[in-house]
Amino acid sequence: MKILIITGCAGAVQGWGDLETTENICKVIRESGSEVEILYVNNRDELIQGLDSLTYDIVWSALYHVSNNEDYIGVASDELWVADILDQRGIPYIGPDAKTMRTLIDKSATTFILREANVPVPEQHVIHPGETIAKETYPWFVKPRFESESAGISEKSVVHSDEELKSRLNFIHDTFRQPALVEEYLPGSELTVAVLGNGKDRKILPVVNVIDKSAYKQYPLVTVELKVKDLITFEIPRRNFDEAVALAKRAAEVLKCHDHIRIDMREDVRGKLKVIEVNGIPGLNPIKSRSLQIHALYHLGYSKADNFSKLIHTVITSAIKRHKLTGSRSDSPVDEQMLVTEEYR
Ligand SMILES: Nc1ncnc2c1ncn2[C@@H]1O[C@H](COP(=O)(O)OP(=O)(O)O)[C@@H](O)[C@H]1O
Ligand SMILES: [Mg+2]
Repeated sequence: MKILIITGCAGAVQGWGDLETTENICKVIRESGSEVEILYVNNRDELIQGLDSLTYDIVWSALYHVSNNEDYIGVASDELWVADILDQRGIPYIGPDAKTMRTLIDKSATTFILREANVPVPEQHVIHPGETIAKETYPWFVKPRFESESAGISEKSVVHSDEELKSRLNFIHDTFRQPALVEEYLPGSELTVAVLGNGKDRKILPVVNVIDKSAYKQYPLVTVELKVKDLITFEIPRRNFDEAVALAKRAAEVLKCHDHIRIDMREDVRGKLKVIEVNGIPGLNPIKSRSLQIHALYHLGYSKADNFSKLIHTVITSAIKRHKLTGSRSDSPVDEQMLVTEEYR
């Protein structure tokens, strides 16, 4: 089995992680006896040339779309979407399919589809550059429509007046060159749920974010600052475990997700969980990615390195099974070591 990993300079900003993360993933793949190669691309031509000239069985992309922007995700033109290019060539890949990838990077499209399917989501307005909105009641939450990794999020994202709202909209429009979302502020706990595997093998692993009161002024939000300083820890939720599992399951089904996604949700003013985001390419940093930390909480007694390796193998074997790649274009059998069968809980 040979895996081709596609990445580029936007790998970190699009959520997966930097080149070091990718190299760590390659290391655990090699340790399992499989082959892996990195295709680092700067533009669409390099991607197509690599896809057409290399030999591999399945692709794993760290990129939603090919981009030179290391600072933010931004809005991609149509021809740059990696999963679309893979579909055009009939190449199997790990993770959600092309249509779902486009939906997941667009928080407004995700919310729309979930709302139509009666999955609880916050009230949300899309505000384009040059436009604004006035509200009768406050607070509201303002964030970019297409970003990841808490870009543009701080306690100033919670606005209390028309003036604050306008100023935050200007900030999002000027910084990220894209529409902003004005969302119902969800004041309760925040959960993040790793969804691994497919069908009857799917594992849904919720954790609650724990942020010490001394780490923030007024609003406990997942900000870059708190993430960098490791001020957010995770626990298996007791209070709303079943609600989180049911919500994540439903969201993953409605959005037709595969292999590995991570869903963020928060409690509204009544304590009811609502989905704020579905990550189609969750972070895979071998030390501090949330998927790894979640996996470790559900596999106590294993080292961090073992947990990382199990997580990577679970994602890969889920995709191999889903694509029914029992043989291999490079004529080696699926590695037994990669078939993770052990139960989680
Ligand atoms: N409607 C909301 N109400 C309260 N907090 C929110 C809301 N939307 C996002 N947040 C906070 O902002 C963080 C980042 O938002 P999210 O939509 O998950 O985007 P991303 O993780 O892609 O940057 C969340 O983890 C949460 O702490
Ligand atoms: Mg998020």
